[in-house]
Amino acid sequence: MTSPTPAATSAATPHTGASNPTHRPRYHFLPAANWMNDPNGMIYWQGVYHMFYQYNPTGAFWAPPYWGHATSTDLLHWQDEPIALSPEPGSYDEQGCWSGCAVDDGGVPTIIYTGVSQGRQRPCLATSHDGLRSWQKYAGNPIIPTPPDIDLLGAGAVVDFRDHAIWREDGVWHMIIGSGLRGVGGAVLLYRSADLRSWEYLHPLCVGNLAQGAPVSTGVMWECPQLLAAGDRHALVVSAYGDGIRYTLAMTGTYAQQRFTPQLIHRLDYGDDYFYAPQALIDGQGRTLMWGWLTEGRTTEAQQADGWSGVMSLPRVVALGQGGALCLAPAPELEALRGERLQLGPQPIGASATLASVRGDCLEIHARIDPGDADRCGVAVRCSDDGAERTRILFDRAAGQIGIDATQASASSSANNDARSGPLALAPGELLDLRIFVDRSVIEVFVNGRACCTGRVYPTRPDSLGIQLFAEGGEAALAELQAWEMRSIWGAPAAER
Ligand code: FRU
Repeated sequence: MTSPTPAATSAATPHTGASNPTHRPRYHFLPAANWMNDPNGMIYWQGVYHMFYQYNPTGAFWAPPYWGHATSTDLLHWQDEPIALSPEPGSYDEQGCWSGCAVDDGGVPTIIYTGVSQGRQRPCLATSHDGLRSWQKYAGNPIIPTPPDIDLLGAGAVVDFRDHAIWREDGVWHMIIGSGLRGVGGAVLLYRSADLRSWEYLHPLCVGNLAQGAPVSTGVMWECPQLLAAGDRHALVVSAYGDGIRYTLAMTGTYAQQRFTPQLIHRLDYGDDYFYAPQALIDGQGRTLMWGWLTEGRTTEAQQADGWSGVMSLPRVVALGQGGALCLAPAPELEALRGERLQLGPQPIGASATLASVRGDCLEIHARIDPGDADRCGVAVRCSDDGAERTRILFDRAAGQIGIDATQASASSSANNDARSGPLALAPGELLDLRIFVDRSVIEVFVNGRACCTGRVYPTRPDSLGIQLFAEGGEAALAELQAWEMRSIWGAPAAER
């Protein structure tokens, strides 16, 4: 069946969908209105960054997904493009065009996505012949009719079969599909093909272990897998869920004989599913850039009342860290959004001091702090004048943890107000180095070039704009702080989303 996907929105869609702008980010990408989740089909094509994403055009809630589409030439400003893929009633993707990837098939832009119907998840293909604007679904879809019967080999039945990443190796296409093996754990299944349409199952690229608890549980299913080259290693990134967890895992290790052997495994972002289902592309400079879906931390009712849900992360540059972990850093292009700058020099940090000279809900803050003998220290953002609302980027030296403590972020009962963190040990004499991006309800923090943590906060008070430095159980010292107001990426306020 061939089913061209008509344009359901146009690039001229006005950015007026949101009814309440209070929490809406101003320098992150999100659709004009409604629901978005995973980044899909991220590809750098002839000088243009193409971002597709899981999208529900009918409201701010998950429903059988479409593929939204936006383009950028500078990684900052995005232009809406027509919807790329729509579920087709009565067909193999009637329950949605779930996540997938895009590749360059000898000059033909080609999408592989998961078509879902009657609960079955199967890989499907679509191509574009007008420069990634409109997409034609392949007549032979689905291109893999059933998951492999791994159970016969005694490895546990395949419980899910979705989300795709593709690369070319020795002149042959290789595809991995996210999965889970019943009673075993998450799994990534490897296929190969000469033409992207006819696929041969090889074996699992990597399998998790449900019984594993340390250093991190790996869940029952792995969504959105991607294999990346990183330094002298490879990294397998998956979004692990089930058994009480939901976070992005990075495994670094070796890829040889078409199998991946992890040596190190860690959560990629300490905000867990506030940075979920990420996808990376390689751009014209050879950089690996990654975006993730920033999930909401408020009730579904609040999301629907505001008319939007889900945000794309800032673009993050992927690199292998010194200890072999996968590290993410904000793309340098973001500096172009910086407005007025404020700088503070060395000074002691007491219990808590509000900075008189910097306020705002759209800021970048770069603070370098000597934790001294303090048990805990850090920077608080979105603080109300009376201190009732505040969100702390908290380094707990005693516990060796860095994270976002949003337990007092909002007086609203519809906000999560949670605290999420992960391990950070500073070397003797090493300063705590925080790059903090505040964009209304989004907080993205990059720590010492080797850890990151994303949070979502929904302060209620109009004066929750303050910034504080704090130290507990001792004295810390500020070495230096710079802060910038960040400009909106949507131009004039009238055009703002
Ligand atoms: C991850 C995910 C994917 C799936 C998509 C559906 O967030 O569950 O596994 O393809 O979202 O929207």
